[in-house]
Amino acid sequence: MVIVKSSSALNSINFQNPFAFVPTMGNLHEGHLSLIKFAKENYSEVIASIFVNPLQFGKNEDFASYPKTLDKDIEILEDLECNYLFLPEPNFAENLEIINPNFSDVLCGLSRPTHFHGVLTIIDKFLRLIKPNACLFGLKDYQQQLIIRDYVHRKKLRTDIISLPIIRENSGLAMSSRNNYLSKDDREYCGKIYSCIKKTAESLKTSSVKIATKQATDFLQNAGFEMDYLKILDADNLSEISERTNKILIAVAVNYKKVRLIDNILVSL
Ligand code: PAF
Repeated sequence: MVIVKSSSALNSINFQNPFAFVPTMGNLHEGHLSLIKFAKENYSEVIASIFVNPLQFGKNEDFASYPKTLDKDIEILEDLECNYLFLPEPNFAENLEIINPNFSDVLCGLSRPTHFHGVLTIIDKFLRLIKPNACLFGLKDYQQQLIIRDYVHRKKLRTDIISLPIIRENSGLAMSSRNNYLSKDDREYCGKIYSCIKKTAESLKTSSVKIATKQATDFLQNAGFEMDYLKILDADNLSEISERTNKILIAVAVNYKKVRLIDNILVSL
């Protein structure tokens, strides 16, 4: 694997087309690996990046303590035969004009009002620099991939946005670098989040959105989760469910022992 440490060095690479890009913040887990594996299987070459993007963290969030495991990440990427790893220079996120996303005034955008601006600004820089044929994201960050997909479409960037299924721990807990903040027992316990949204998807067959939302929220609160939100929305545009809805998103964000955990499930109608 070739490790590229500057934007200028990137320009001299002749990628074999079609090639895929997997942006990450490192601390790679099975969720990331599924993206790299998919990219290896479906594209001629794969470039991953590791950059903990300061623009997407709020003032009181975990930017400084975000888990860093570069040596292990490099080993994992080499095992998967990833072709290139881009490690941007520390000033990569400086002096950028912040981009305003659509769909950011709901769900995670309410409690993290600058988060998606930061994500979109850095992804825009990556895409314009690397110009990949495809860029891969995990569906755990449903809102993130929707916002990026919308932006790429509006700006007519020539990159396909590919979103791949959530990878889960045995307990059902969605894989996330932040799971490392929790003990093994806690991670087992947090499998309740996924059981809850699965059950909510079932109960939508007989209950109204309002009742299903209340039941799920009560369940999670009683189980000791501090709620940010549990919302049932139109998956295409994150608006309230209407007669035009053909796919439903059940999305949840909670804090457990001060660790923010998100998850979601899609229900086709
Ligand atoms: O999902 C992430 O890890 C980050 O938000 C991303 C897409 C790498 C942008 O910094």
